[in-house]
Amino acid sequence: MQIFLEQLHQVLDQKYILTEDQDKNPYLTDWRKRYTGKALAVVLPRTAQEVAQIIRLCAINQVAVVPQGGHTGFCGGATPDSSGKQIVLNLKRMNTIREIDVANQTITVEAGCILQAIQEKAAAQDFLFPLSLGAEGSCMIGGNLATNAGGTNVLRYGNTRDLCLGLEVVTAKGEIWNGLKGLRKDNTGYDLRDLFIGSEGTLGIITAAVMKLYPLPISQWTTLVAADSVVSTITLLNLFQKRATSLLTGFEMMTQESLDLNEKHFPQMANPLKGNPPYTVLIELSDHESEAHVRQLLETILEEAFEAGLISDAVIANNLAQANTFWHMREHITLAQAEEGANLKHDITIPLSALESFIEETDALVRAKFPGVRIINFGHLGDGNLHYNIAPPIGVDHKAFNLTNEKPIHELVYAQVERCQGSISAEHGVGQLKLEGLRAHKGEVAHELMKTLKRALDPQNILNPHKVVSI
Ligand code: FAD
Ligand code: MLT
Ligand code: ZN
Repeated sequence: MQIFLEQLHQVLDQKYILTEDQDKNPYLTDWRKRYTGKALAVVLPRTAQEVAQIIRLCAINQVAVVPQGGHTGFCGGATPDSSGKQIVLNLKRMNTIREIDVANQTITVEAGCILQAIQEKAAAQDFLFPLSLGAEGSCMIGGNLATNAGGTNVLRYGNTRDLCLGLEVVTAKGEIWNGLKGLRKDNTGYDLRDLFIGSEGTLGIITAAVMKLYPLPISQWTTLVAADSVVSTITLLNLFQKRATSLLTGFEMMTQESLDLNEKHFPQMANPLKGNPPYTVLIELSDHESEAHVRQLLETILEEAFEAGLISDAVIANNLAQANTFWHMREHITLAQAEEGANLKHDITIPLSALESFIEETDALVRAKFPGVRIINFGHLGDGNLHYNIAPPIGVDHKAFNLTNEKPIHELVYAQVERCQGSISAEHGVGQLKLEGLRAHKGEVAHELMKTLKRALDPQNILNPHKVVSI
């Protein structure tokens, strides 16, 4: 290993190869503090050429590499194992926005660009970069692409995959594939771009990307509404889809227990709707015509919803600041869960037609088998994506509870997901957290195909081994 470290010094300046514990530690524990690993070194390259040289050295010396962006992922994908033999390759120094192509409506960015910096750069030129998630101040576009992140705008603009036109990738051999074309059509055989997106660092290292931009909306209106049942929230979604069509850009659901937890840790985030409704829905419309047009449309649809008995209360944000407080309330649920202690996450998608049956049956089963637990169910309802998270009963030690109950709770929830033909990972990925469950969920044929791809693209198994699939 000493030889490998000496070879690394021929590629990177000493200060970009971290080997002392106090320097490495910030890169070794994930955001949820669920996984802590060890690393031979943390390396901080600045260019795709440096990444390629590092990977070539890893291939020669059989050293495994864990690619890392903002380290905000929920599945332990960017955390090394406990061997101390892997290196972490963090891309934060590759943070140049290379170009905005106004006519093509694209932005070319390096992997280490913080998501929020891309949004701001686009907005400064009157464009919208629609990817948006609670971690946007620290996650990086390379990580977003590697996890195919979702977030709050998917129902209108799609997930990260849908926003990407081209990639630059360093392969397991240490070659650079330049696929940085900003084309909306390109049927030249297998889609390599889509192979790397969502592969969580197991097939290649993303070093840059061409992403789509959209016109910035003229006006956005945000409302919070109260609904009594799951079926009302879904009928409400269908009503908005029919009446607002592409103007509907946000539809987020929060249960009473989720908002109770929020208020416990962030009293300033109290629900402005009175009476603690069972379901609070945040709805956002975005318009390119005029403020009056979208406001009137929103009011008309809400009136219809009241008349149909779908909602019992509504509050419309009067200005941008109030709209932001509604969004902050939604985004703080994740932070409130972290404050509360380790919780059991289930990032799942269910077809909208099966959502009512899923929630009613799963809620009942969970409450019967694990009395007193809190079901922190919230999420991107417009995409059928629930964050069906479970916290222990009040006063019970989180670690002790999870030790005994994690497995049976996961089994119960995932069995319900399978019953409803859903997915056990909607947007957070697989990483090490869901490695074990993946085989059964994907089925033998799909799982074998994934392993075949992994073996073909990374025969030495040096790229993020034992994440997503083990070969
Ligand atoms: P990391 O955590 O560093 O890495 C994630 C995975 O990608 C790892 O497997 C890593 O090895 C790999 N990787 C990273 N960079 C590269 C690269 N350049 N090339 C190849 N592989 C790479 N996620 C959602 O989808 N939707 C949400 O709404 C959402 N909300 C969140 C809210 C909060 C408060 C937090 C903390 C997280 C949230 N997340 C959400 C999860 C997380 O932010 C996303 O998964 C994000 O895309 C990860 O980006 P990152 O840069 O932090 O990646
Ligand atoms: C979010 O949408 O806020 C996160 O993806 C959900 C989570 O914390 O589980
Ligand atoms: Zn989410």
